[in-house]
Formats: sequence, C-alpha cells, structure tokens
Amino acid sequence: MSAATREVRREARGKINAFLRVIGLRPDGYHDLQSLVLPIDLADVVTARTSDRLDVVVDGARPEVAAIEAGGMNLAIVAALALAEDRGGRGGGNGASIRIDKRIPVAAGLGGGSADAAATLRALDELWGCGLGDEGLVSVAERIGSDVPAMVLGVPVLIGGRGELLDPVSVSTFHWVLVVAGDGVRSPDAYRWWDEDGAATGPDPSAALSAARAGEPEDLAPHLFNDLEAPVVARRPEIGAARDHLRAAGALTALMTGSGSGVIGLCRDAEHAREVARRVPGAVPVTSSASRGRR
Ligand code: C5P
Repeated sequence: MSAATREVRREARGKINAFLRVIGLRPDGYHDLQSLVLPIDLADVVTARTSDRLDVVVDGARPEVAAIEAGGMNLAIVAALALAEDRGGRGGGNGASIRIDKRIPVAAGLGGGSADAAATLRALDELWGCGLGDEGLVSVAERIGSDVPAMVLGVPVLIGGRGELLDPVSVSTFHWVLVVAGDGVRSPDAYRWWDEDGAATGPDPSAALSAARAGEPEDLAPHLFNDLEAPVVARRPEIGAARDHLRAAGALTALMTGSGSGVIGLCRDAEHAREVARRVPGAVPVTSSASRGRR
C-alpha cells in the first residue's frame, strides 16, 4: 500500500424480520410493508481502498451467486455508483477498490447484498470525505434497494412503505437459531407468489411491537409472522420442513425471514439457542442486536 492509499473497513451486518406484514401491491410494482427489522451478529466485512478505478471483489462466496442476488449486478457497485452520482464529481476521485468478505448466506432473506451496499455507502462516505451523515446516506440508500435504508441505520427499526420509512424501535437482544433451507429464493418471486395466491395480510403489529419492546421472548413468540411464508412454502416445501424442525427441536416459534429461504427460531436465551442448534443439522445460533443503550 503506498503512503497515499487509504483503507476503510466496515462491518455489514445481516438482518432478520421478526415480523413481516405485506399490506398490498402498489402502483409502482412494489408492496407496502410493515416489518420489524433486527440487525444480527452474522456479518460480511467490506473494505474500501483508494483507487483510480471502481472495482469489487467478493471473497468467501461464489461471486456469480453474489451477482445473481442483486439481479445481475453486485449491490456494492450499485451503492458506489449511487454515491458517486450524488456527489456529482465534487471533491476527490470517485474510485475505490472494494473487497467483500462474504459470510452471510445469499438469497436467504438475511439482507446480505443490502448490508454490503449499506456498509459500502458508509465506507465510501468516509473514504471520499462526503460527510453525508445518516439522513444523507439513507436518501442515497433508497435508490439502491428496499432493504438498504434500514441497513444503513443498522439498529432495530420498524420499516414502512416499501422499506424507506424508518422508525427506530427500542428493543432488547434476542437469541435465535438460523437454518438456510434449500436453494435461495429471489425476492421478486416471493412477492409475486403473494400476489398470485391472494395471500393474507397479518394482524396489526402493535402487539408484536409491545412484546419486542418489553423484551420477553416467550411473550414475543406468539406474535411473530411473515406474510410471504405461506406462498413461498407452497412452492418450496423444504422451507416449511425446516420451520417445523426448529419448532420440534424446542424453539419458542419459528418462521421464514424476509423472502426466504432462511428460517429463524426464537429462543429463550443464548444457551437455549445453542441447545436447539445442536438438534438441527446446519443450524447456527444468531443474536439480534439491541437498540443503543439496551442489553
Ligand atoms: O428493492 P429491491 O430491489 O430489493 O426489491 C427487489 C424486488 O422485490 C422488487 O423488484 C419487487 O419485486 C420486490 N419487492 C416488493 N416490495 C417491497 C420490496 C421488494 O414487491 N417492499
């Protein structure tokens, strides 16, 4: 590295959806949602270095898989281009050499691609000296993908609209077990299946939100749901089987996260999560982060 080369590293945490309520199809083809998005301790690492070109290397995953997740274009590149466009050539160069160490399974409903995009925005904001801050970065994030604004904030948040309306929620740490069941599911497919099936819209989430704020997993469990789960499970029965397996292994409840194929089981505490994970092949314990100032 030459003396002039700078490097900025950011953690790109995945997420789970404690509940996901699909309200309906919008004229723009997206769906209005209400979802409690919780960052988890499963994270990629994004490293951005000064360069006169823009390039992205994905390590630790088959790069073609990472590209497919973003509909053919890696979301970190999309993020870099969106930020470069936002600053309109002001300041230093618009180049960066970006490396993604991939640990979050792709197309699993864990927001891996969106987390990489959010971490890329944060890293380049610093590397390029943009100084956009949360509000500025969220407004760039909206143009990249529906999950990216919530991932930029990186705190527990109730999302609305297509994902751009953010309302941070004060919640405690929760312990979960994660299984990725079968092949990945593409988000557009999951939402289209919800339309095709005339699938249901879950209950008003105020009870789930109060339970999440109160922090007792036993009280939270009965309120968790994902409106995309029934249409996805109808076409991918292995996801339903993984959910049932987590429940049979002792999770308080289990449900699909995001548009799948990840399935999460809620547990009482870290020890319970380790116990359940031991009983289910391929399962790993994950922890969702508390809001700042909570445990
Ligand atoms: O915004 P993003 O590119 O991540 O969305 C991928 C696809 O998922 C959209 O093209 C759309 O089909 C679906 N989607 C949706 N409603 C949302 C978010 C995503 O219909 N709120």
